[in-house]
Amino acid sequence: MNVLGQVKTSVVDPVRSRVEQVFPIDVLVKAAHAYNRTRRLVDKSERSPIFVERPIPDGPDIALADIDMSNPFLYRQGQWESHFKRLRDESPVHFQDKGPFGPFWSVTRYEDILAMDKNHQVFSAEPSIIIGKFPAGFDIKMFIAMDPPKHDAQRAAVQGVVAPKNLKELEGLIRSRVQEVLDGLPVGEPFNWVDRVSIELTGRMLATLLDYPYELRRELTVISDLASGVPAATGGTSDLDEVFTSCIPILRRVMHLWGDKKARLAAGEEPGYDLISLLLADESTKDMMERRPMEFLGNFLLLVIGGNDTTRNSMSGGVYALNKFPDEFAKLKANPKLIPNMVSEIIRWQTPLAYMARRAKEDTVVGGQQIKKGEKLLMWYASGNRDERHFDSPEKLIIDRKNARNHIAFGFGVHRCMGNRLAELQLRILWEELLERFDDIKVLEEPEIVQSTFVRGYSKLMVELTKRQ
Ligand code: HEM
Repeated sequence: MNVLGQVKTSVVDPVRSRVEQVFPIDVLVKAAHAYNRTRRLVDKSERSPIFVERPIPDGPDIALADIDMSNPFLYRQGQWESHFKRLRDESPVHFQDKGPFGPFWSVTRYEDILAMDKNHQVFSAEPSIIIGKFPAGFDIKMFIAMDPPKHDAQRAAVQGVVAPKNLKELEGLIRSRVQEVLDGLPVGEPFNWVDRVSIELTGRMLATLLDYPYELRRELTVISDLASGVPAATGGTSDLDEVFTSCIPILRRVMHLWGDKKARLAAGEEPGYDLISLLLADESTKDMMERRPMEFLGNFLLLVIGGNDTTRNSMSGGVYALNKFPDEFAKLKANPKLIPNMVSEIIRWQTPLAYMARRAKEDTVVGGQQIKKGEKLLMWYASGNRDERHFDSPEKLIIDRKNARNHIAFGFGVHRCMGNRLAELQLRILWEELLERFDDIKVLEEPEIVQSTFVRGYSKLMVELTKRQ
C-alpha cells in the first residue's frame, strides 16, 4: 500500500520514502485507503470487475482461440485439466488477447516453464507476479515481485525464519499442535476439514513464525484471503474496503510487537526465531520498521500470504486426492514410510498456486514463439505438473511416483519457494499423526472450490473420520 499510489517516477520515490519515514504504517494504510476510494469514485477502471459464472465447455469442444485461461471459474468447474491439455498438445506457448485481464502468453509445458523460471535475466518478476493489477494505493513491494539484486538482499533478510536450524527447533512444536487439533476432531460425524484442520494448522504455524498473538491467529488467515482474493488482481471475491480496513488492527499489533521486542533485546534478552526478532537482530534490517516501513509490511504480508493458501490447500487436496484414488490410501496405510514421497506427490497433484507471471525484458523466443519485450507471460505450474511429457498418468495421485520430487509447484530459480521445507514438514507431520489416529477420512461430497485464477483452493471439504482400530 502506498499513499502515493501508482505514481512511480524517480522524482516521486524520494518523496514517498520520506513520507513513509514520518508516518506509522497504520496511518499510511489509512491514507492509501482514502486514496483508493477517491480513485474508485473518479476512475471506473479502478472499480472491482464483476465476474459472472457461466458453464465452461470441455477442452476438446472449444476453439483454441476461445480458450480463456484467465477465467476464475475454470478450477471450480473442473475444466482446467482438459483446457491445459489442449494447449500443451496444440499450442504450448499460447497467446490470448481476450479476457478480463488483458493480453498474455500461457506457457504450459514443463520444460518451457522450467527454462523460463531459471532465466531471471530475461524474464522479470517485476512489477507483479499475478495476472491482474492491485488496486490503486495497494502497490506493496514484496521481494517475490523484485529482480536481483534487490530481491536477493530482501530474501536474505527474512529467510532465517524458515532456515533448517529454525525448522529443527519448530518440529516438536508443530507436532504437538497437530496432535492437539487432531485430538479435538469429532469422530463419526461430518465436519468441514478446511476450517477445522487446514486453516487451523496453517494459522497456528503463521502465528508462531511471526510471534503473533496466538488467540488472534485467524486474523492472519483473514487478511491473507482478502489480499489474495482481490478481484482485479486474481479474479477473487474480496471487498476492497475490507482489504484495507482489516489490515489496520493487524499492523497496530505488529508495531506493538516490534517496539516490545526491541526493548527486550536492548535489555539483553536472546532474540527468538520469529520474523521480527530476526529482522531486529540483523544490522542491515534492525531499523526497517522505522526507516522502510512499507518494505517491512511487504515482507510481513509475503510470509502471511505465502504460508497460508498454499500449505492449507495441500492439506485439503491430499485428503480429497486420497479419496479419489482409494488404492493409494490403502498403499499408504500398508506402508507409512511412503509419507515423505507422498507429500511431494500431493503438492504436485494439487499445485496450490496455478502460475507465476513474468515480463519479457527483451525480445525473445519461448517454445518456438516470438515474444516481444514487455509482454506478459504466465508460467502455468498447474499445467507443467500435469505434463504427460514429464509425468506418467499425471492426473493420478501415485504416492510412490518415482519423480514426484521433480514437481514445479514451488517454482524454480531465484524465487523458488522460501517456505518449501516448512510446508513439507507440516504436511509430513500431519499425515504421520493422522495415520496414528484414524483408519479413514471419508470425503462426503464434492468440495467447494475457490473462485480465482491464481489459487487452486478449497473453501469447504466435508469429511467423516473413522477411529483407528
Ligand atoms: C515463493 C509455492 C509454502 C513463502 C513461492 C513461489 C511458489 C510457491 C510457486 C514462487 C516461485 C517462483 O516464482 O519461482 C508454494 C507452495 C507451498 C508454499 C506450493 C506449499 C505447499 C510456503 C510457506 C511459506 C512460503 C509455508 C512461508 C511461511 C514463500 C516466499 C516466497 C515464496 C517468501 C517468495 C520467494 C522469493 O521470491 O524469493 N512459493 N509455497 N511458501 N513462498 Fe511459497
